[in-house]
Amino acid sequence: MRSLTLDVAVNADSAILWHDDALHLLDQRRLPLRELFIRCESAVETAVAIRAMVVRGAPAIGIAAAYGVALAARQRFQESGAHWRRALESDLEVLAESRPTAVNLFWALAHCRSRLDDIQGDPFPPMLAEARALHAADRAMNRRMGEFGAALIESGAAVITHCNTGGLATGGHGTALGVIRTAFAQGRIDRVFADETRPWLQGARLTAWELVRDDIPVALMADGAAAARMAAGGIGWVIVGSDRIAANGDVANKIGTYALALAARHHGVGFMVAAPTSTIDPETPTGDAIPIETRSAEEVLECAGQRVAAEGADAWNPVFDVTPAALVDAIVTEKGVIRNPDPERIAQHLSA
Ligand code: MRU
Repeated sequence: MRSLTLDVAVNADSAILWHDDALHLLDQRRLPLRELFIRCESAVETAVAIRAMVVRGAPAIGIAAAYGVALAARQRFQESGAHWRRALESDLEVLAESRPTAVNLFWALAHCRSRLDDIQGDPFPPMLAEARALHAADRAMNRRMGEFGAALIESGAAVITHCNTGGLATGGHGTALGVIRTAFAQGRIDRVFADETRPWLQGARLTAWELVRDDIPVALMADGAAAARMAAGGIGWVIVGSDRIAANGDVANKIGTYALALAARHHGVGFMVAAPTSTIDPETPTGDAIPIETRSAEEVLECAGQRVAAEGADAWNPVFDVTPAALVDAIVTEKGVIRNPDPERIAQHLSA
């Protein structure tokens, strides 16, 4: 993957760009130190970028994959003409194998596949239009989610968040960070405590980058400090995103979320999950059935490419955990709020 600087204003809400006939992804591995893009011209290059976490965050992965399908459509039509459909199957598979937990990836691929079925002639223009439409729809949904979530927050609260759920992780504005941005604009939040989010440091590198640029006061904490911060008082809500919500309301999110939910319940702090309805997976009955990605031991044994652990030590690196529905006070989607989620409330919300 070749890094390049683009002559565009770099901000979190335009981290996924269609530019110069190709997909450009703001390289989140390099933030906040460097603002470089990776250019993707095929589905395979897009899948490699997703796997390497150039782009990450459940909705952003889905959007990038949709652009990946458009790139595949262009390539396969150029190579195979009328036989493009068969050639494109392997691209869909490669994209589906890039990361296993975020259901938004599979949702976006299924959505693109259903559109492909109707296409006659060159599939590239309609599939690029489809990717752009998904991208714009995600931004709009996050704005609505922001309003619904902010309305739950009483003025003057500080909140805790985990991982990065902002513009970088979505098509723009963010899920949990979108709620925080909206609530801050409304004067409901005065301060954000952000977990640094070991091992990949999405909180320290990405959430802090976004909040500082928005002039929203942010204090970083070691992940293990969150319970003590709740005990110290003044925290209204823990607000997080999700990579997959099971049909019973169990929530998969960045490793460490479950511990936050336990601590929140103990301290009487509200626990809010903000995610679009495409993150709710009716096919996954409970959290036990959610595939949890395990990444390399080096992510834990090293920090910024520098070995920090004692030589000879191994590591366990599941990058998501599952918070049981019973610990979740509210799931906020673009359609509204599900309080105390359970299978019936989730099904009702999806069919509304
Ligand atoms: O491994 P990542 O950085 O892709 O994990 C991201 C998260 O866990 C986010 O909280 C989740 O995708 C929701 S993002 C809007």
